[in-house]
Amino acid sequence: MFLTAPKTEQLDRQVSQNSIPRDLFKAIADLKKDLNAVILAHYYQDPDLQDIADYIGDSLGLSQAAVNCQADVIVFLGVHFMAETAKILNPNRLVLLPDLDAGCSLADSCPPARFAKFKAEHPDHMVISYINCSADIKALSDIICTSANAVAIVNQIPKDQPIIFAPDRNLGRYVIEQTGRDMLLWDGACIVHEIFSERKLIQLKLSHPEADIIAHPECEANVLRHADFIGSTTGLLKYVQKSDRQEFIVVTESGVIHQMQKASPSKKFIPAPPNSNCACNECPYMRLNTLEKVYLAMKNRSPEIVLDESIRQAALKPMQRMLEMSA
Ligand code: 13P
Ligand code: SF4
Repeated sequence: MFLTAPKTEQLDRQVSQNSIPRDLFKAIADLKKDLNAVILAHYYQDPDLQDIADYIGDSLGLSQAAVNCQADVIVFLGVHFMAETAKILNPNRLVLLPDLDAGCSLADSCPPARFAKFKAEHPDHMVISYINCSADIKALSDIICTSANAVAIVNQIPKDQPIIFAPDRNLGRYVIEQTGRDMLLWDGACIVHEIFSERKLIQLKLSHPEADIIAHPECEANVLRHADFIGSTTGLLKYVQKSDRQEFIVVTESGVIHQMQKASPSKKFIPAPPNSNCACNECPYMRLNTLEKVYLAMKNRSPEIVLDESIRQAALKPMQRMLEMSA
């Protein structure tokens, strides 16, 4: 039987009042049946949360899983923009996010009012937005993309069409390099992927010369230039499974290593070091979700994602374009 430590005073009280069961895995499995729920999780979740999921994926895979969802309830183990995306695609299903404070620095770096003004200053530009943005930004966009399909989507746009790419300047710069397109970039970034230290990465590579460096395109250019492979979380996972190498330095949120290790138990995965001695290669937002909060969310059918219907409909169009262009 698994026993988890409650993280807050309120949770402590609930355990002592017996309102949180000791065997959370069983309790969550029981609630899943009662609710006819599906649990979708991103690779950056705590390993325990990945292990209770029906589907684990990157942002593209999770959107595709949400489209095909038949359950009454979607329990989303990820951050707010991901759960919101599931709600955009499933207006009639209950979408639960265990902790509504699980935000995203990248999504926050693009406030809708400022972005609307920026867009109005460039009326001839098409807006392609990375899925790591709020529903309001999606509603202002022509096409959504993820790290898995950004290059392929930009390559499908006619060469003479000017493009605004938002909100991630690092992914945007990477897409410019890969496509040769001159896009106008919004100046946003992810706190997790900007924290990796180039100097420490080089030192790590010197002590592990046989290791491949694999990196997420949200990293800065000075880190990406050392990478043997760049891809979305699913792309990185597939790469290590296929590769003959035995060691990998993983330059993204360290949660993804759980699935890498499960798929390739004999291989060694070394998390890339951040700038300081903090655990900054763990996303502080992703890690707000816990087993206790998952249990409570399912038991209380709350907190749920609620969206204004006009915003939802406007955000749905660029999502549908992305799904069509990635089919
Ligand atoms: P992907 O899921 O597209 O790999 O993106 C990673 C990420 O930062 C999600 O927040
Ligand atoms: Fe946002 Fe970065 Fe966390 Fe992904 S890893 S959810 S982009 S803050």
